Amino acid sequence: MDIGATTLILLVSCVSCLLLFLNGKGQKNRGHLPPGPCPLPILGNLLQLDTKDIVQSLHMLSKRYGPIFTIHLGPRPCVVLCGYQAVKEALVDQAEEFSARGDLPTFFRFTQGNGIVLSNGEKWKVLRRFAVQTLRNFGMGKRSLEERIQEEARCLVQELAQTQAAPFDPTFLISRATSNVICSIVFGDRFDYEDRNFLTLVGLIDQIFHLVSSGWGQMYNIFPGPMSYLPGPHNRIFENLEQLRLLVSERVKMHQESFDPNCPRDFIDCFLLRMEQENQDPLSYFHTETLVMTTHNLLFGGTETVSTTLRYGFLILMKYPEIQAKVQAEMNWVIGRHRSPCVEDRAHMPYTDAVIHEVQRFSDVLPMGVPHAVTRDTQFRGFLLPEGTNVIPLLFSVHKDPTQFKDPATFDPAHFLDERGGFRKNDAFMAFSAGKRICLGEGLARIELFLLFTTVLQCFTLTPLTRPEEIDLSPLLSGLGAVPHPYEFRAVPR
Ligand code: HEM
Repeated sequence: MDIGATTLILLVSCVSCLLLFLNGKGQKNRGHLPPGPCPLPILGNLLQLDTKDIVQSLHMLSKRYGPIFTIHLGPRPCVVLCGYQAVKEALVDQAEEFSARGDLPTFFRFTQGNGIVLSNGEKWKVLRRFAVQTLRNFGMGKRSLEERIQEEARCLVQELAQTQAAPFDPTFLISRATSNVICSIVFGDRFDYEDRNFLTLVGLIDQIFHLVSSGWGQMYNIFPGPMSYLPGPHNRIFENLEQLRLLVSERVKMHQESFDPNCPRDFIDCFLLRMEQENQDPLSYFHTETLVMTTHNLLFGGTETVSTTLRYGFLILMKYPEIQAKVQAEMNWVIGRHRSPCVEDRAHMPYTDAVIHEVQRFSDVLPMGVPHAVTRDTQFRGFLLPEGTNVIPLLFSVHKDPTQFKDPATFDPAHFLDERGGFRKNDAFMAFSAGKRICLGEGLARIELFLLFTTVLQCFTLTPLTRPEEIDLSPLLSGLGAVPHPYEFRAVPR
């Protein structure tokens, strides 16, 4: 642990002691939680956790304490679930009990439980159902989701062509493409890649994702009270979230001014329509604040996850050029060079489908999922988790479970292929989590990943600037999100 982190821990402990003293109350132990490392007062198990790589720390602890153990994040106990069997028994077999959202202070301070990701109970059910239905309806609208994504893939390819195979860091370009897909759904249209507002929006989302995945973001999630009083980069999370909220609010206002209930143009219009239909209902969940936060959730949830997966995927394919060549060979055979890839092609491209699944398994862009909580007192594997207990489904550990994947540490598309080369589904694939909180953008994300991935590889061979063996696939940051090391490539026209 470096000196900065030690000083920070000391500071946090002092402020925590003070707050505890002022409050005059500690945490009451109820229920019968699984055992885990012994916590210190206030600090909890901080000394057993590397806040810069909390995922590995939890995974290591599971080797000692087994697939279900309790960890104290500061004074707050959290039950950690490791490996396929434990995560599946909780999120799938006891889906209702494990469907509440747990604490995520970095985002809760901002959303105040509005929107979908951090809401609970009836509000969550109603808003989630509405969003799922509305996203589904866009597949049947004037322009299908598929067409929107194909258009975006063409723009991405045009931009890559302009690099003329010169070294290029694709990070920001890929985020602009994925953000544009979700922008076209919520705002009605895509942005030009150089649009100033758009660049601000994508830049903010990118920074927030990095900050919440950093050690500072983790420290805030563990000690939200004291950290709120301390200076540090974590404060930028809230400044950026607020700026993003202002951008979304501005768009909502523009929509309100030109709103025609007979002709909803996009997600925001559909929400405004519902607000109008329920404006006499004092219990309605459809009001401006939930609209702004829900839109915010979709933009945030739909941009960085897909773009980080693609960025990781391209890096992996450069490390394993033989796999890139096999994807391109399958593509030549099924699609050829003269038309754009479409969703239907996926069913005829088992190898490519397996590679994309393996990229998601291997890269684990949300390695701890998003925290859950139990909706009521819950019996689980002989323990009693009191209502509201936080639960971390360690998705990373599911993807690294040797009982489910032959060689989990190795990138190998065979993890998703049968003996005849057909695509093989694996229930332990949980990149989108499982159960009632499963990612609501899964369908959209899967189409995006397939179309953007294949359209780029149809036009270019991606070549690294170093020798493939030197490419480091370990994450640069691994917290709420996992982020690959930055890199440059050459997009060489095929
Ligand atoms: C590769 C891309 C993506 C990955 C890996 C991913 C992964 C996840 C995961 C692990 C969760 C947490 C589920 C849980 O609580 O158990 C989640 C939730 C969520 N995702 Fe995604 N996601 C992706 C793309 C998207 C897209 C494109 C959207 C937008 C349409 C989206 C919107 C959401 C929302 C709103 C939630 C909260 C669901 C709830 O609390 O009920 N995600 N996602």
